[in-house]
Amino acid sequence: MTSEDFNFLSDMLKKRSGLNISEDKLYLLESRLVPLARKRGMNGLDDLVNAIRFTPEEKLLSDITEAMTTNESSFFRDINPFENFRKVVLPELLEKRAAKRSIRIWCAAASTGQEPYSLAMYLREEAVKLSGWRVEIIATDLSQEVLDKATVGLYSQFEVQRGLPIQMLVKYFSQVEEMWQIDSSIRAMVKYQPLNLLGKFSHLGAFDIVFCRNVLIYFDQPTKGEVLDKIANQMPSDGYLFLGGAETVLGVCDSFKPMESYRGVYRLSRQTTH
Ligand SMILES: C[S@@+](CC[C@H](N)C(=O)[O-])C[C@H]1O[C@@H](n2cnc3c(N)ncnc32)[C@H](O)[C@@H]1O
Repeated sequence: MTSEDFNFLSDMLKKRSGLNISEDKLYLLESRLVPLARKRGMNGLDDLVNAIRFTPEEKLLSDITEAMTTNESSFFRDINPFENFRKVVLPELLEKRAAKRSIRIWCAAASTGQEPYSLAMYLREEAVKLSGWRVEIIATDLSQEVLDKATVGLYSQFEVQRGLPIQMLVKYFSQVEEMWQIDSSIRAMVKYQPLNLLGKFSHLGAFDIVFCRNVLIYFDQPTKGEVLDKIANQMPSDGYLFLGGAETVLGVCDSFKPMESYRGVYRLSRQTTH
C-alpha cells in the first residue's frame, strides 16, 4: 500500500470514527480489511482504497469503519468500576435523587452489551431499594452490528465465562442450544441506539452516570478532550463519569477531576453541593 493510500484511508477513519491509526499499524488494516475486500470480490487493500477513493459508497465506508473498531468487551469488566457503581455511586444517588426518584445512565460505547447488562443486573440486585424509581439505561455505539448482537443478548460459553459470576449466570441467563441468552426482563432495562461520539448527542438529554470505557484510547488527544467536554455538558454538576483503566481526564480536559479513592470514577470540576 502506498503512503498516499494509507493517508487517505487513515484520514477517512479518523473523520468517521475518531480512530487514530499510525503507519506502524498497517498490519491492523490488513487483518481487518482484507477479509472485507475479499467478501466484496476485490483482491485486497489496494482495490478497497480505489473503490472508496473513486466511488465512495456510504455502505462500504461504514463497513470499513465498523471493521476497524475494536469491540472487545466482557461482563463486569475490571470489576472495580461495577463495584464502585453499586457500593458507592448508587447509594449516593439514591440519597441525592430521593425527591425525583429517577436516575439516567448512559453507556456511551456499549459494544455487544456486556457493560449495560452488568449494570442492569446490579440494579436488579438492588430492586428493593429502587422500588418506585425510574431507572433508564441508554446504550449507544457507532457500530450497528454490535448493537444488533447486544439487543438479542445471546452470548457464547466463552463470553459468559469472562467476568460473569456463576450465580449471575444461573439467575439471569437461560441456555439456548450452545449459547446463553440474558433474560428478557434484563434486556428490557436497556435501550440501544446508534451514536457516533464525534457527532452531537445533546438530544439524548442529561445523564447522572456515564460509562465511557475503553473507547477514548483509540482517539487522539484533541478528540478525547472534545468528546469529554461534550459528555460534561450532558451531566448535572453532581454526575459521575466512569472511564477505562487505561484512560484518564488528566492532561486531556478540565471538565472532570478524578474522584478521590475511586480509580476510574470522575466528577465534574464545576461540582456544586446539593
Ligand atoms: C473496546 S469496545 C468497549 C466496550 C465497553 N465499553 C467495554 O469497556 O467493555 C469500544 C467500542 O467503541 C465503539 N466506538 C469506536 N469509535 C466510536 C465512536 N466514534 N463513537 C461511538 N462508539 C465508538 C466501537 O464500535 C466499540 O464497540
